[in-house]
Amino acid sequence: MTAQETQHPRTVRAVFASHQGTEGAGFPITRPFPTRTLPMVDPFLLLDEMGPYEFGPGQGVGAPDHPHRGFETVTYMLEGRFEHRDSAGNHGILGPGDVQWMTAGAGVVHSETPEKDFNAAGGRLHGLQLWVNLPADQKMIEPRYQDTPGSAIPVVDLPDGAGTVKVIAGEAEGEGAVIDTRTPIQYLHFTLQPGKRHTQAVPAGHNGFVYTLSGRGAAAGTDVPPQHLGILTDGDRLELAAGDEPWSVLLITGRPLDEPVARWGPFVMNTEAQVQQALDDFRAGRLGRIQAPERHRVLVVAKEDELDALVAGLHAAGHDVQGTSDPASAERRIRAGVEAVVLADHPHRRRLSMLATSTGSHVLDAPDADDAAGADLDARLRALWG
Ligand code: FE2
Repeated sequence: MTAQETQHPRTVRAVFASHQGTEGAGFPITRPFPTRTLPMVDPFLLLDEMGPYEFGPGQGVGAPDHPHRGFETVTYMLEGRFEHRDSAGNHGILGPGDVQWMTAGAGVVHSETPEKDFNAAGGRLHGLQLWVNLPADQKMIEPRYQDTPGSAIPVVDLPDGAGTVKVIAGEAEGEGAVIDTRTPIQYLHFTLQPGKRHTQAVPAGHNGFVYTLSGRGAAAGTDVPPQHLGILTDGDRLELAAGDEPWSVLLITGRPLDEPVARWGPFVMNTEAQVQQALDDFRAGRLGRIQAPERHRVLVVAKEDELDALVAGLHAAGHDVQGTSDPASAERRIRAGVEAVVLADHPHRRRLSMLATSTGSHVLDAPDADDAAGADLDARLRALWG
């Protein structure tokens, strides 16, 4: 038999729509899985498209301190900047095109939030997070980070001017990824030009899917609309064909682990007892805690027409400042812990003041916009820090 005859094309077995929701402190996500109809794609546990969402000055939200054990999180930024901090003292910033492959292993506590200056200015946040399960014998390994700048990740031109492929894991068109994975994984991001086709070699035996970020296109003749996921049959290649606009599509495959999965929130183990142990370890502080950032966090709560000026004034004065006019968001952030809460005239001022006092935050009144944006408020905050 020739190589040609041994080829076996993959097709799309089923197409799934995504669910919309929020994560962390309330940032919007689009989630193709896990859902009731698609609980996982072994070895992949979750895929979230984060945003895209736009926020005003100081109003960005992320995922404050939370734990992980037993798997890996892969964050791929498309727009905006995320800041990462963890219990082992690691700290980094992810910008457009950058990838962080975090092996949580035995456990980390980390926070993922819009980077301070980006948050203060406001902007647009868009990215992806994929969760990759670890085999039973690797669930308790030491945590490891691979922070890879976009400039180091290969982007290969496809034959016939069909477009480009960014090789995040595995290989494509003879180009290998710079990120290494614990088990065999292929993670490719294609941008196919209108009307163009490309046939991609895919490892046989891997479970795999395509997920459309934008544009229109078909995998093996099946249309996969934006924010939809197409599950692939087995095979060693896949034909991708763009429609009449550029098609931005992920092709992700991995060798299945075929092991029992016991999952609860941020813990993914093999048995319920192991999940309970993870929860106990987290509650007892054995997964660690995040050290307080060096600057002091200030939350401004004001009506929409005053908020931007207040946030901009305090950011310019060098404060690590967040802001919101939404009472529910204010309440979540106060409960998550802030050093000082600046309360301007706001319908929920009294209630939020009581909540902030009860959680140990300093409470400062900003009676009017002129006062708050000026040097007076800055001086009062500096007096608090001592
Ligand atoms: Fe996380």
